[in-house]
Amino acid sequence: MSHPAEAFLRLYGPAALVTGASNGIGRAIASALASYGLDLVMVARNETALGELADDLAARHGIAVTVIAADLSAPGAAGAILGHPSVDRVGLLVAAAGFGSAGRFDTLPLADELAMVDVNCRAVVALAHGMAPRLVARGQGGMIIFASLVGWQGAPFAATYAATKAFVQSFGEALHRELRPAGVDVLVAAPGPVATGFGNRAGMALTMTDTADIVAADILRALGKRGQVTPGRVGRLLTMALWPLPRTLRVGIMGRIMKGMVQGKAGIP
Ligand SMILES: NC(=O)c1ccc[n+]([C@@H]2O[C@H](COP(=O)([O-])OP(=O)(O)OC[C@H]3O[C@@H](n4cnc5c(N)ncnc54)[C@H](OP(=O)(O)O)[C@@H]3O)[C@@H](O)[C@H]2O)c1
Repeated sequence: MSHPAEAFLRLYGPAALVTGASNGIGRAIASALASYGLDLVMVARNETALGELADDLAARHGIAVTVIAADLSAPGAAGAILGHPSVDRVGLLVAAAGFGSAGRFDTLPLADELAMVDVNCRAVVALAHGMAPRLVARGQGGMIIFASLVGWQGAPFAATYAATKAFVQSFGEALHRELRPAGVDVLVAAPGPVATGFGNRAGMALTMTDTADIVAADILRALGKRGQVTPGRVGRLLTMALWPLPRTLRVGIMGRIMKGMVQGKAGIP
């Protein structure tokens, strides 16, 4: 890592709040932070998975880990997390919890689409809003929030998901500028396809993928240096290929890619 662990700990410690720590990218980031010596407050719904990871990281790195089992689609979940005493020591928010869906919009259950907006957007705003004044008061700290390659344009057959990620992208790039003078580093991570639990839950067959460990390492390396990172080799390649194209063309390409990933679902030829 280009951040020596001690410097990282001084800037962003003594503890990190990581949502989505039970799986995928959040889990990989939590593990890397533990290896730097940061204590952890880990959030997700799967308490068993969090507990097992907490025991492992505490034993291997001698850190303190607090587990908070919470459903971030529930109203008040973010508030309850922010009110937990362990969060008082947090210098870094990693808001990795999120999920997607795939299919023609009219065939997808509204409750799931709205829960996605709540987890991917509403909870991120609530957590960032709770953490920002604390970090500003300290004059240092960081927040990592998750956009996506699909958030650069509309993505037919993942319309709501892409829109939630466009929201996070815009929100994060603004916060980066707002909070930088106060010493707070905000980083928007926009991965391409990553081999995690994401594809399974969203019903997308991801083919070319980056690994969660590589994506986590790229993200942590970028923190404090930039406001935006496209982590992973596949993510960077796809971004380079898509980015120069006109937005309308990218929407069409995204539609064809998504269609290929979700074929067989209702409404998709
Ligand atoms: N994988 C990709 O291809 C990809 C690409 C671009 C962006 N991203 C973004 O990267 C972030 C991490 O995704 P991932 O790939 O690591 O997916 P993942 O392996 O499915 O992990 C998602 C994490 O979010 C948690 N989560 C989901 N719903 C939740 C809820 N209602 N309340 C609390 N926690 C919840 C899950 O834990 P529980 O199930 O235990 O609640 C899990 O820990 C997401 O924001 C995703 O949109 C992923």
